[in-house]
Amino acid sequence: MRTPKRRESFPLDRLEGSLMARRKKIYEGKAKILYEGPEPGTIVQYFKDDATAFNAEKKDVIDGKGVLNNRLSEFFMTGLAQIGVPTHFIRRLNMREQLVRSCEIVPLEVIVRNYAAGSMSKRLGVDEGTQLPRPIVEYCYKDDALGDPLVSEEHIAAFGWASQQDMDDILSLALRVNDFMSGVMYSVGIRLVDFKIEIGRVYEGDYQRLVVADEISPDSCRLWDIETGQKLDKDVFRRDLGSLTDAYSEVARRLGVLPKSNVSKPTLIN
Ligand code: TMP
Ligand code: ASP
Repeated sequence: MRTPKRRESFPLDRLEGSLMARRKKIYEGKAKILYEGPEPGTIVQYFKDDATAFNAEKKDVIDGKGVLNNRLSEFFMTGLAQIGVPTHFIRRLNMREQLVRSCEIVPLEVIVRNYAAGSMSKRLGVDEGTQLPRPIVEYCYKDDALGDPLVSEEHIAAFGWASQQDMDDILSLALRVNDFMSGVMYSVGIRLVDFKIEIGRVYEGDYQRLVVADEISPDSCRLWDIETGQKLDKDVFRRDLGSLTDAYSEVARRLGVLPKSNVSKPTLIN
């Protein structure tokens, strides 16, 4: 008979701290840190617990958010790869880190909307929750100092942020991600109201390929319960609607990503 393995709790922050200390930091953003990866062409993406909104005017640290987003982004990116949508994701390394392909980020936030909400409702005076006749794709220029302004394809072409071929590919990627994410969410009783993705360029010899990069998580989507309309995304933080980790854990639980509810105090199982 095999002896049962001894389970003990381990201060995970110490383990993660020592892993991080060995890595070379490349960039620190609002919700993630990028480190040099173990092989050329790879990057380690570390998910922080920091939450920001309104261009970092509102800030907090939400215990466990990084762990949830690391898992959820892995889940969505893996699913996308399985239906043939290229992404930067390679594999999850631990609770807070994932290995991704190094890529050059196209300086655009690509937003897809199925229902009016957020800035679109404000800008156009359309009630939040109004179903749009078809998915609407918007582009914002990624520049924190300017507050990521909305731009048109004319701006993108004129300033050379992406070519016409890139824009065709980006639109097709965005709509494929929308179909996939809408279906996955619908199957667990959640409406995908809108989301934002970022696109990376990966160079392979003389060729470049566009891939879905950054993260896909409740930080970058609007997710409403289909029955009750309850918000299960970062609007809970933006609008002070309750516990953000409860909302994200609910999404993870429904998707079968985190069957156990205790994500805020993870323990290492030997
Ligand atoms: P918006 O309605 O505020 O323009 O947001 C549209 C979508 O983009 C929504 O799902 C939230 C997401 N988003 C981000 O991921 N990052 C951002 O900085 C902003 C403003 C929105
Ligand atoms: N991520 C953005 C920020 O901090 C805004 C947002 O998601 O609302 O500033």
